Amino acid sequence: MIKPIYLRSEYLVNPLGIDVLEPRLSWVLESEERNQKQSAYQILVASSENLLKNDRGDLWDSKKVDSDQTNHIIYAGTPLKSQMVCFWKVRVWDGDGNPSEWSDIAMWSMGLLSPTDWKAKWIGPPKKRFLFRRLRRFFRKKNIDPSPLLRKSFNLKEKIKRAIVFVTALGEYELYLNGKRVGDHILAPEWTDYHKRIQYQTYDVTNLLQEGENVIGAVLADGWYIGNTGIIAGSRIWGNDRRFIFQMVIEYADGRREEIISDNTWKIYKDGPIRRADHYLGEIYDARKEQPGWDMPGFDDSAWQSVTVDETIRANLVAQMNEPIRIVHEIKPISISEPVPGVFIFNLGQNIAGWCKIRLNPSICDPGQPIKLRHGEMLKPDGTLYTKNLRFAKATDVFIYDGSEEREFHPHFTYHGFQYVEVTGLKEGVKPPLDLITGCVICSDAPLVGSFESSDSTLNKLWQNILWTQRDNLHSIPTDCPQRDERLGWMGDAQIFCQTSIFNMDMAAFYTKWLQDIRDAQFHDGQYSDYAPNPTRKLGITWTKNAPGWADCALIIPWLVYLNYNDKQILRTHYCSAKKFIDHVHHKNRNLLWKKHAGFLFLTSYGDWLNGDKIKVEGYPKKGAAMPKDVFATAYFANSTRILAKMAKALALYDDYKYYSNLAEKIQGAFIKKFVTPDGRIKGNTQSTYAFALYFNLLPEELKPKAIEYLLEALKKYDMRLSTGFCSTLPMMLELTKWGYNDVAYSLLLSKRFPSWFYMIEQGATTIWERWDSYIPERGFQSKLMTSFNHFAFGSIGEWIYRIILGINPDETQPGYKHFLIKPQPGGSLTLAKGHYISIHGKIAVEWHLKEKRFELKVIIPPNTTATVHIPAGSPDDVTESDKPIQEVKEIEFLSFNDNIAQYRLPSGIYVFSSKLPI
Ligand code: BGC
Repeated sequence: MIKPIYLRSEYLVNPLGIDVLEPRLSWVLESEERNQKQSAYQILVASSENLLKNDRGDLWDSKKVDSDQTNHIIYAGTPLKSQMVCFWKVRVWDGDGNPSEWSDIAMWSMGLLSPTDWKAKWIGPPKKRFLFRRLRRFFRKKNIDPSPLLRKSFNLKEKIKRAIVFVTALGEYELYLNGKRVGDHILAPEWTDYHKRIQYQTYDVTNLLQEGENVIGAVLADGWYIGNTGIIAGSRIWGNDRRFIFQMVIEYADGRREEIISDNTWKIYKDGPIRRADHYLGEIYDARKEQPGWDMPGFDDSAWQSVTVDETIRANLVAQMNEPIRIVHEIKPISISEPVPGVFIFNLGQNIAGWCKIRLNPSICDPGQPIKLRHGEMLKPDGTLYTKNLRFAKATDVFIYDGSEEREFHPHFTYHGFQYVEVTGLKEGVKPPLDLITGCVICSDAPLVGSFESSDSTLNKLWQNILWTQRDNLHSIPTDCPQRDERLGWMGDAQIFCQTSIFNMDMAAFYTKWLQDIRDAQFHDGQYSDYAPNPTRKLGITWTKNAPGWADCALIIPWLVYLNYNDKQILRTHYCSAKKFIDHVHHKNRNLLWKKHAGFLFLTSYGDWLNGDKIKVEGYPKKGAAMPKDVFATAYFANSTRILAKMAKALALYDDYKYYSNLAEKIQGAFIKKFVTPDGRIKGNTQSTYAFALYFNLLPEELKPKAIEYLLEALKKYDMRLSTGFCSTLPMMLELTKWGYNDVAYSLLLSKRFPSWFYMIEQGATTIWERWDSYIPERGFQSKLMTSFNHFAFGSIGEWIYRIILGINPDETQPGYKHFLIKPQPGGSLTLAKGHYISIHGKIAVEWHLKEKRFELKVIIPPNTTATVHIPAGSPDDVTESDKPIQEVKEIEFLSFNDNIAQYRLPSGIYVFSSKLPI
C-alpha cells in the first residue's frame, strides 16, 4: 500500500500568500513494501475544508489522471484570485491499480496579486534630506537613528472568522498585535534588489485579535535597505527612509470583510529603546527608553506624532516564497574565561551566525549600566577576543538594563558570525554563570534533508562543520561569510557548494528566490554580477561583474536545481537570461577563448580563488598552484555553453540545443588548440588545470589518461598535498576517484597534514575556513583583511562525501531522483558509513559496513523510483540480499559485472546486501 504524504505547493508546506497563479503541487509516497509505484492520482482543491472532507473539490477536481508524476503538478482549476484560500488533498493508485486513502488536507492561500489590491499607504518617519545624497552612499554609516515605533488602535465589534495580514517594509520590521509578536520571521523583509522587488509577508493573525480594542505595533530598522551593506557599497544603497506598509483583511462569519491599513491615522514614536541597529555594527537596546504597553490596548499615545505618508514609493511587491529566516537552534556556552579582570569570554563551542540573548538581574548588573557583548570567531593568544578579521563590522550589542526584575534581552535587527562572546559591564566582582547568555542561531529555515556518519569521528566532524557553515551563511541569499563587513551572495562560492547544499538541505525554494536576485543583478548586455543582490550595481561602480566561475553560477545553479528537483519551470524562467550571458561572452570573444569581459578588471577576475599560491606557510611551495586565468575562464565558458545546450534540450528548444552544443564543441576545440600540447600538457601544468580539463570533459579521449598522470605528478610536486583553490578542489577529488585513484582522494580527505580539511579540525575548527591557512599555530592568523573562519567554498567536499562515500548520485536522464545511482566507493580506513538524502520522491538511505572481507550494504529506495546499485564483489555469485542468493530475489534485476562491481536495478523498498570482496 502507498500513501501520499508531505503535500507541498510551490515547494512549501501550507504557504500563506503566494503569488503564483498556477501553483505546482507535490507529494511524497510512503510505503515500506517493495516495488511500490504510482499509476494514477486524483487531486481535489476546494474553497473550504468542509467541502474537501466530503470529497468535493469546487475549485478543481483533476479526476483520475493516469500518471506516475508526484511533483510539480500544475493546478488547473478555477482561476485563482487575490486572497483565495485553497484546501487540497490527493489520492493515488498503486502499480496494481488499488487506490490509496485520501491524504491529509493541505492548503495554500493567495497573496495580493495586483498592485491595486494594495489599499495601504507607505508610512514612516519624516523624510530625511541630504545635501550630497548620492555621495553619502559611499560612506559607512555610524550615526543611526533609533528604531521608530508605529502604532494603530482599532475596535472590533464582533467575533471574526479570519484575519490575514500582508506586510513589509523598506528596511526591516517587527510586527506586534496586542502585545504579541506576529510570526517568527527574523530580518524581514529579506534581501532582494529592492529597486526591482520587495517581498511581503503574509500572516494569519486570527487568534491574536479580540473583540473590543486591538492594537497593531511595528518597529522599524535599517536592514539591508538602508544599513551598512556589502564590501565597498557603504550604506543607504537602496534608499534613506524607513517605510512600512500593512494591510489586514478581517473576515466575519457572514462573509463581510473589513480592512485595516497603514495610513495617516497611525502614530509614530521616534525615541524607542532600540537606539541603533545595523547588521555590521550591532544593536544598542536601552530598556529605560521602553514605552510599556505601547503595543497593547489602553496605552495613551496622545504624545506620539502622526506618521508621514509617503506617496513617492513605487515598489514592486512580491510574495515571499522561500523559507523565512528564523531562530533555528539555541546553544549554551561550554566555558567562560576572564582573560582581563571584569572581561568575560563565553565560548559557545560552535561558530554560529546569529545573536545572543542575555538574562540580567539586579544582582549582576546595575541599572543604567551598559552591558556590552562583542562577538568574534577566534581568540588571541592571550585569551582576549580577536576581531581584526571583522574589518568595519563592530559586531557589538549593548543592553542597558533598567533595573527592574530579572529580564531577558536580545537584539532584533542585526546578526553576527561568532563562537566567542566578550561580556563586559557586569557589577564589580560578579562571576557570571554559564547560562548568562544563550547563542541563537539564525538562518533561512530550509528543511534539513541529509545526514552522514562514518567510522571516522574527524570525518563526521567535517560533515558537521560543512553543515554548520551552510547554516551560518544562509540569510535569504548564500553569503560568503557571516562575520566581516561583506556577507555578500558571492556566486563563485555558491556554485561550487551548490550540490553539497542541496544534499544537506531542501534548497529548492531558496534557490528559486536567489536565482531571481541573480537575474535582477544582471546587466543589460547579459553580463552577470559577481554577487547578487549587487548593491554596487545602481551606484554606477560596476567593478564586480562577469568574473569567470562567478558569473557561471547563473548557469550551474539552475541546472542543479533542475537535476535535483526536476524543476523545468526554473529552466523556463531562467533560460533567456542565461542565453544572453553566453551570447555576450561569445560576442566579445570571437576566438572562443574567454579573455575579454572576463571580470571587470584583471583584479576582479578571481580565477581559482585562494589556491596554494595564496598560502603563506613556511615550507609550502610559493608558486605553482594557480591555474592561468584564460584556461580557467575558457573551461567555464565551454561548460556553461554545454549547460545552456542541455537546458535548451530539456525545454525542447532543439535549434538552440544544436547551436549551443556545436558552440561548446568549438570552444573545447579552441581550448585544446590553445592550451593543450600534443602530449597532453596543459598550460599552467597545475593540479587544478588537469582537474578542470577532466571535470569539464575538455580533452580528447586519448589525452585523458595523460591528464590524470600529470595530475598525479602535480600532486607529487606538492608532496601529495592539495594546492587547489575554491573552484578546483572538488573537481580534483571527483576526478581522482573517477579515474581509479580513489585511494589518493581518500588520503587527501583523511589527511591531517597542512593544508587539509582535517588540519582545520585539528586546530579546533567548527566551520570551514576561508583559506587553507586562515590560522596556523606557528604563524597565527592570515591577512587580517581577509580571514574568515566561516566560508563554505572548501566545504564543497560535502558533495564528494555524499556521492563517493555514501554513493548517492542523481541521474541526469531522469532528474529529481526518479532514477538514481547508489555507488558507494569505500576507501581509506573507513569501515562504516551511513546517511541519507530526502529527495523530492522521499528518503534515499545508504548504510555500509566492511566486515572481514565482506561488504554489507543496506539501502532504502523510495516508492515510485528505481535505483541502479553498485556492489563491490569478487563475483556476482558472492552477493546475497536479505541472506538469499541475489538471483532468487525477484524484484532485483542483474545488469552487469565488471571490474569487481556487480550492478543491479532495483525498484523501491529496503534491501540488505552482503558480498564477498575480491581477495
Ligand atoms: C569573498 C569570497 C569571494 C571573493 C571573490 C571575497 O571577498 O569573501 O568568498 O568569492 O571575494 O574573489
